[in-house]
Amino acid sequence: MQIKNICCIGAGYVGGPTMAVIALKCPHINVTVVDANPDKIKAWNGPLDELPVYEPGLAEVVKEARGRNLFFSDDISGNIEKAEMIFMAVNTPTKTEGEGAGMAADLGYVEACARDIAKHSKSDKIVIEKSTLPVRTAEKIKEILEENSTEIHFEILSNPEFLAEGTAIQDLFKSDRVLIGGHETESGQKAVQALVDIYTNWIPKEKILTTNVWSSELAKLASNAMLAQRISSINSLSALCEKTGANIDELSKAIGMDHRIGPHFLKASVGFGGSCFQKDILNLVYLCKYYGLEEVADYWHHVIKINDYQKDRFAQKIIDHFGGDLKGKSIAILGWAFKANTDDSRESAAIYVSEKLYNAGANLLIYDPMVSQKSINRDISFYWNISPKLSQDRIRVMNEALKLKEIDGTAILTEWTEFKDLDFGNLVVFDGRNILKESNKIHQIGR
Ligand SMILES: NC(=O)c1ccc[n+]([C@@H]2O[C@H](COP(=O)([O-])OP(=O)(O)OC[C@H]3O[C@@H](n4cnc5c(N)ncnc54)[C@H](O)[C@@H]3O)[C@@H](O)[C@H]2O)c1
Repeated sequence: MQIKNICCIGAGYVGGPTMAVIALKCPHINVTVVDANPDKIKAWNGPLDELPVYEPGLAEVVKEARGRNLFFSDDISGNIEKAEMIFMAVNTPTKTEGEGAGMAADLGYVEACARDIAKHSKSDKIVIEKSTLPVRTAEKIKEILEENSTEIHFEILSNPEFLAEGTAIQDLFKSDRVLIGGHETESGQKAVQALVDIYTNWIPKEKILTTNVWSSELAKLASNAMLAQRISSINSLSALCEKTGANIDELSKAIGMDHRIGPHFLKASVGFGGSCFQKDILNLVYLCKYYGLEEVADYWHHVIKINDYQKDRFAQKIIDHFGGDLKGKSIAILGWAFKANTDDSRESAAIYVSEKLYNAGANLLIYDPMVSQKSINRDISFYWNISPKLSQDRIRVMNEALKLKEIDGTAILTEWTEFKDLDFGNLVVFDGRNILKESNKIHQIGR
């Protein structure tokens, strides 16, 4: 099957970069990214230094492909109608109400996409799950598509995205693997082949893994759970290091040199953040409970519990350092993004650590090189549930590196390179990311 037009619903951190790279590598295919948020589309069509997603290398890719065969549009219906292949890259946050609230994935956005696809399709379509979804979601999507449109054949594939924010473009250019799940029917296998043909424009064949739909859906959740589990494992050991005099960096190195374990994701930190790990593990826990696998659910739930424990422990260390009370103390929060090289702050450890410091009475001066003041204020009102106006007296969001002399301590919460070169003088530095050299003035978690 020859694909000439691709439509991607969802122009976020996944839809934008993924489609930009497909368009770059497949100049013979028109790729249009649509979104329900017209401001986002406007920004994708705007100046390259103001794209709605910050990723190293993204602006260059967009510059080359945009207007050639890469388009951003708010015409959802027209682009669904035109495309032979439709990616769904919409958000799947944790449910906040109803059955499974606080654990299950909210599939409302994906279901809305499926209804739109059914409504506006006039010819057969390959519909691809790019969003991270609970195993067996394809069944639900098929139900919606067929309920709303009986004449047309929809073939559903799972093609989860494994990119990591901060290195998305590099990850998309040189994926460890591309996973495509399809049904074991003739039409299912034809659809799989159509997607394989797209990726083989730049991904070596041996890195393209085809499976059944359910394995593919579950592999994404399992993959994120395994990565987060390594972080929680090393973070749990950092607490034991502090009690025993062992050094967590030396421990990480010693463990990681074992080829059966490997060195990645073994660095102690203030805990993982981001939009994926927590929500995907909660989703996995919910699925295990749904299938009556209580022990398995408990096992994975502990990965989240250790992460919460680590964030709390880090903030408590700072409070303890100042004798249990931060009233009148000014603490600089360096870094708000959940990791370096992204402007994404969803579920960032900085949000939780800062909240605890604020509640202990601290004045906070917050700075991040990429997260805007607007986003930081939005996070404070969303996650802390207080109005930024109420907190303004004790919170200042800075748009340049801080004048460190005027403060009592600094907490480094994102591993931005620029923080490595800052001169902290005699200041107490609490480092959540192990980015500074050893110093007895530096109180690093896990040391
Ligand atoms: N962010 C990551 O690093 C990452 C990596 C791999 C997988 N994922 C998964 O990919 C999915 C998307 O994540 P994201 O970070 O890109 O989310 P995002 O919030 O950045 O983007 C989602 C976009 O979808 C749009 N949208 C929602 N419903 C819509 C609808 N019915 N019609 C049109 N547009 C709609 C929203 O306006 C938003 O712009 C999630 O399932 C996530 O778990 C994310």
